[in-house]
Amino acid sequence: MKNYKKIIIANWKMQLDVNQSSKVAKATRKLLSNNKASRDIQVVICPSFLAMTEVAKVLKGSKIALGAQDSFYEERGAYTGEISVGELKKIGCQYVIVGHSERRQMGEIDEIVNKKVRAILSQGLVPIICVGETFDERREGNKDMVVMHQVYQALHNIEFDKKQKIIIAYEPVWVIGSGQVIDSQEAAHIASVIKQSMIDVFDGKDPAAYSIIYGGSVTPNTVADFTKLANMQGTLVGGASLEAKVFVEIIKNA
Ligand code: PGA
Repeated sequence: MKNYKKIIIANWKMQLDVNQSSKVAKATRKLLSNNKASRDIQVVICPSFLAMTEVAKVLKGSKIALGAQDSFYEERGAYTGEISVGELKKIGCQYVIVGHSERRQMGEIDEIVNKKVRAILSQGLVPIICVGETFDERREGNKDMVVMHQVYQALHNIEFDKKQKIIIAYEPVWVIGSGQVIDSQEAAHIASVIKQSMIDVFDGKDPAAYSIIYGGSVTPNTVADFTKLANMQGTLVGGASLEAKVFVEIIKNA
């Protein structure tokens, strides 16, 4: 996997059916095909599980990578409804979102996030680990602690090798889907908190490569506020990634 300066990730959540997913992927590919601005940007699209094989066909041969919105931590067995990292890899998936706040709300605790991160890394895929505080945690003044704790727990007791890559996506829970973004000074602060947490996790060992990105109501008008920051390499985009034109604007402005 090449090292890109920036990374822009689309999280389509459960918003598009298979047909729509294939159409938006095609349109995104087309709009990006002659775009010089996106040359140094890794674009990743995370469709629903059901749409992944269709979107994989559309993206084949392009520079846009395929990602998943989740995965399970076991490789095979009696796990009704789950999907393994190995199966995702077989269809060309390179990235997996883990610990998204919408999944944490459904019971994905730090211990599960940690198991998933292990499984993803062991298959050579890149985990996109989502961290972020709720409004209450913020109001109580615990934002930095919550984020540090989530980073430590997600990476607890994992042996890293130099080839591995990790993405930490800071997504304040109260901002996701709200239409408001945090200001870039605050994003810069939390990026340094995450950076310090990563230094602590690696504890002098050779670190795996990692990137820190921002997520939560990013639009073409706000993307550069985050990508211009020294410690932030990109964004995770939900709502604004559902329309190819808007998503490509985000990539162009990044
Ligand atoms: P949003 O979603 O851009 O719609 O706020 C971001 C996310 O949940 O990853």
